[in-house]
Amino acid sequence: MPTDINFLVNQEKRDFNVYYRKLLKSNLLNDELSKAIIYGSMNGGKRIRPFIVSVFANIAKIKKNNYLRISAAIESIHSYSLIHDDLPSMDNDDYRRGKLSVHKKFNEAKAILAGDALHDLAFEILSNKKTHKKSNIRIILVEKLSKVLGSKGLAGGQSLDLLFENKNVTVNQILKMYSMKTSALFSYCCLSPFILGGKNNKEIKFAEEFGNLYGLIFQILDDINDETENFLFLGKTPGKDRRQGKSTFVSNVDKDRAIIFCNKKIQKFIKSNKGYFIKWKVLEKILFNDLNEYL
Ligand code: IPE
Ligand code: IPE
Ligand code: MG
Ligand code: MG
Ligand code: MG
Repeated sequence: MPTDINFLVNQEKRDFNVYYRKLLKSNLLNDELSKAIIYGSMNGGKRIRPFIVSVFANIAKIKKNNYLRISAAIESIHSYSLIHDDLPSMDNDDYRRGKLSVHKKFNEAKAILAGDALHDLAFEILSNKKTHKKSNIRIILVEKLSKVLGSKGLAGGQSLDLLFENKNVTVNQILKMYSMKTSALFSYCCLSPFILGGKNNKEIKFAEEFGNLYGLIFQILDDINDETENFLFLGKTPGKDRRQGKSTFVSNVDKDRAIIFCNKKIQKFIKSNKGYFIKWKVLEKILFNDLNEYL
């Protein structure tokens, strides 16, 4: 990552972690389940989603204390999705973020329940008055999140991911699966601060599309890294997708062509949304940030 974006990501990560630790402390009991929740959510994630939220929140001029609640809800969801993703009945991963995955450290039942509780916490955070004084805004935030997580979003995408194991699927089927399991939550990272900030429908639509594209590139790079990087870099078992027969973009299209595909997609998106990219300069840097290392 070029230093300036890297610097901003880490700065936001520090602020987010302080805020999130406090929030968890005031919401959790001091019991076994809470230990699993804290382990699964405070164990060294990159916090890229809170960074994306902060970028769109800064554009919409939202105060930090308000948008950190959105980030906390999203990161709770993200942690839930990873805890469940690692379960034996899903990807069966023993490691996450360089440490034992939650079901390995605790047990499977606690991992399922910790994931459930983190999922529920997100909705508790969003529906609280502190998120926005107007209940209609809070309802929109809750409704949109429910949609990106459900059968047409993250859960549906995870189901396709498992269904597609050891199957011959088309690139379009893989792209559809990515848009559901990964892009949907990234689109929420971008559009939710715009909803909170009262941006107009066109701007909200742009934010949603930006998040979808960012998520697509993010998942393709995650799949490439799974094949090419080591445990130290990944914090999870390398080469697992191929061994498990996962249908990924890079199992269908070779790595170099995958990078060209991402590059073209970004160029095209910037071209058709020129006005926003001129107005909000940081967005172009963010789209290219991870990809640059592969170009
Ligand atoms: C991993 O997400 C799951 C995918 C969508 C590929 P991250 O790479 O953001 O995971 P952490 O939070 O940094 O561990
Ligand atoms: C996970 O995709 C996507 C989620 C929605 C959790 P992966 O299964 O590729 O994520 P990693 O590689 O285990 O982090
Ligand atoms: Mg998975
Ligand atoms: Mg996985
Ligand atoms: Mg992966």
